[in-house]
Amino acid sequence: MAVYKIALLDGDGIGPEIMAEAVKILNLVAERNAIAFDLSPGAFGASAYFSHGHTFPDETKALCDEADAILKGPIGLSHEESKKIPVDMQPERGALLPLRRRYDTFANFRPVYLPKVIAHFSPLKPEIIGDGIDFIIIRELVGGLYFGHKEMGVNAQGKRYVIESLEYDEDQIARIAKVAFETAQKRKKVLHNIHKSNVLKSSVLWNEVMGEVSVDYPDVEVRHILVDAAATYLCLNPGQFDVMVMENMFGDILSDQGGGILGSLGLMPSACIGPDKAYYEPSHGSAPDIAGQGIANPYSMIGSVAMMLEMSFGMELEAKNVWRAMQSVFAQGYSTADLSKPGADVKMIGTARFGDLVAAELARL
Ligand code: IPM
Ligand code: MG
Repeated sequence: MAVYKIALLDGDGIGPEIMAEAVKILNLVAERNAIAFDLSPGAFGASAYFSHGHTFPDETKALCDEADAILKGPIGLSHEESKKIPVDMQPERGALLPLRRRYDTFANFRPVYLPKVIAHFSPLKPEIIGDGIDFIIIRELVGGLYFGHKEMGVNAQGKRYVIESLEYDEDQIARIAKVAFETAQKRKKVLHNIHKSNVLKSSVLWNEVMGEVSVDYPDVEVRHILVDAAATYLCLNPGQFDVMVMENMFGDILSDQGGGILGSLGLMPSACIGPDKAYYEPSHGSAPDIAGQGIANPYSMIGSVAMMLEMSFGMELEAKNVWRAMQSVFAQGYSTADLSKPGADVKMIGTARFGDLVAAELARL
């Protein structure tokens, strides 16, 4: 029997609640496929700082090193609470970026998937949504401003200053370009390259390398769009996009806009793929304001499980089934609190009930 080792980092805020629902689905998938998931929890994020004195403790590093894949919940505290942790150790700088760097997870896949049955959650008008929206943002995840040279100080004029560099070399661009072209080949063979080459030199090199890599993928049409224009088109005509590729910071911003198109960041799972290791996480934060209330939407966490099944374990059909199970729960008129206003004509459900309903649907497929 195949046994897959998965490190579970449930993180902060709503993390443990939505992770519990992901585990329900993993257990069901294991059972019906006669495989085993060896699930090992690890401390990570602000909660790990308070329990272990570090947001990414050594024990968790060892656990992740051993794992076939990592499933990670959201991390972070409210702005006020964050101040209890030294700046460089705070969960984003002290745990998440080191996790990305440790496993070189350069390729971040963020699907923006709005089939007709959940179109009513979107703030976009039906005529803009058309038959539904289905595109994927491929975000470079270990370069650019996030990982470039940083400096802060006081200059010769006595003024405080800061420098933060957007750094890429051609190999870093070429490898994400290849991932994007290969993804486009498997889909509609159209790749939108998002850049800002009218201002940024980094985008000039980015586009040059995109052009070089494109020679190996003659069947893929590349369309170049400036990042600011892309933000507008995402609202006005998102249906034109299928695969979009961009550098780290652009991807951070436009993928949140993707959540806006869907109606909630709660609908945004993601996969972060490196050469030897991958981890999977919701694209959203830890929502400390609603933590512990049992109302968080676990869709992005369960969707991350679906992405893990497909991308780490080659279980494509089962991944599709998980997506379909989640859609059919919504198709029956259910909603979570993030997706509908009070008084809306929906059957409002909480975190555990959503997980149970998805599991029941999945069992039927
Ligand atoms: C994301 C998040 C992170 C990022 C934060 C938590 C550091 O916003 O995954 O999009 O900026 O990459
Ligand atoms: Mg973000």
